[in-house]
Amino acid sequence: MPRGPCSLVRVSATPVAVLAVALVSSLSRCSLLEPENSVVSALSPYFGTKTRYEDANPGLLPDPEVPRRDPELLEETCTPVQLVALIRHGTRYPTTKQIRKLRQLHGLLQARGAEDDRTRAAGRGDLGAALADWPLWYADWMDGQLVEKGRQDMRQLALRLASLFPALFSRENYGRLQLVTSSKHRCVDSGAAFLQGLWQHYHPGLPPPDIADMECGPPRINDKLMRFFDHCEKFLTQVERNATALYHVEAFKTGPEMQNILKKVADILQVPVNNLNADLIQVAFFTCSFDLAIKGVKSPWCDVFDIDDAKVLEYLNDLKQYWKRGYGYSINSRSSCTLFQDIFQHLDKAVKQKQRRSCVPDSEMEK
Ligand SMILES: *[C@@H]1O[C@H](CO)[C@@H](O)[C@H](O)[C@H]1NC(C)=O
Repeated sequence: MPRGPCSLVRVSATPVAVLAVALVSSLSRCSLLEPENSVVSALSPYFGTKTRYEDANPGLLPDPEVPRRDPELLEETCTPVQLVALIRHGTRYPTTKQIRKLRQLHGLLQARGAEDDRTRAAGRGDLGAALADWPLWYADWMDGQLVEKGRQDMRQLALRLASLFPALFSRENYGRLQLVTSSKHRCVDSGAAFLQGLWQHYHPGLPPPDIADMECGPPRINDKLMRFFDHCEKFLTQVERNATALYHVEAFKTGPEMQNILKKVADILQVPVNNLNADLIQVAFFTCSFDLAIKGVKSPWCDVFDIDDAKVLEYLNDLKQYWKRGYGYSINSRSSCTLFQDIFQHLDKAVKQKQRRSCVPDSEMEK
């Protein structure tokens, strides 16, 4: 090992801080590859915040445990001092709210009764009948929990980060890793799965122990930091609990673009248009990706929509996120300042530590 300040910096790499977080309550999902499934991939680019990781980053497809990076980046040119990662939870179930809407829609289809049989007898491809028969396998208890694929997402992410930054994820730094998570079960579980992935990195082939017994300890829960929006009084008053804050979203839900889809879907499913609304349609749209991601099956819900519908529904979701989480109101982004301050304070500290270590003789470092 070379002597002098450079090697000291490397050896004394500052603690790795990994922050696990769910910034928004929407989901990202992944699934086993189904390249033959053209319908789903046709709609996939329009799932917005619900896009599968593989669809957003096709680089994950060949080998999800191997990172892809610019070979010139980092090579000899700079030394990573600290890694701070803000990580979303892995693939998860729909929420109870979404499941109830889906059940409502399913009930509508099953209530069609006699008309259903008549259409089937007529030999037409009846999508409504297919959907009425399609098992509704989501139960209330699932309520947004992490699914097995979601654990895999996190384990693979940990393995990619560890091989991307071998000096930071060295064996001696393992105990200095800090994981902070929100209290949401899918986030706590994501953090645990991430640590299990790292365990795999350090102990290939060995089954991971309980995370409580790992060197770095279990993820620390800190909602003030990770669910800053729940702790920002101004955001709660002006946006979250404000019935009119999303009036643009409400306007779009009843506007001509959505009305067209409602009529079209009512016609396809042969249910009264008055029984449908934008929320039900949106849940039906996302069920296409839920079924694929969680079950690995191509759902007939995917056949209800074409690309033009998908664009309208994508816009609806974007509009909601814009006003609730994005640029719509300045308090939306400002509520995250405490988290960003925390991140930058850790980075500043890491840089200062590195500078201090570069200036002291070897013997001082041992203290
Ligand atoms: C609620 O939102 C509307 C629309 O943005 C705004 O005019 C109103 O001041 C908000 N109410 C509160 C209490 O902030």
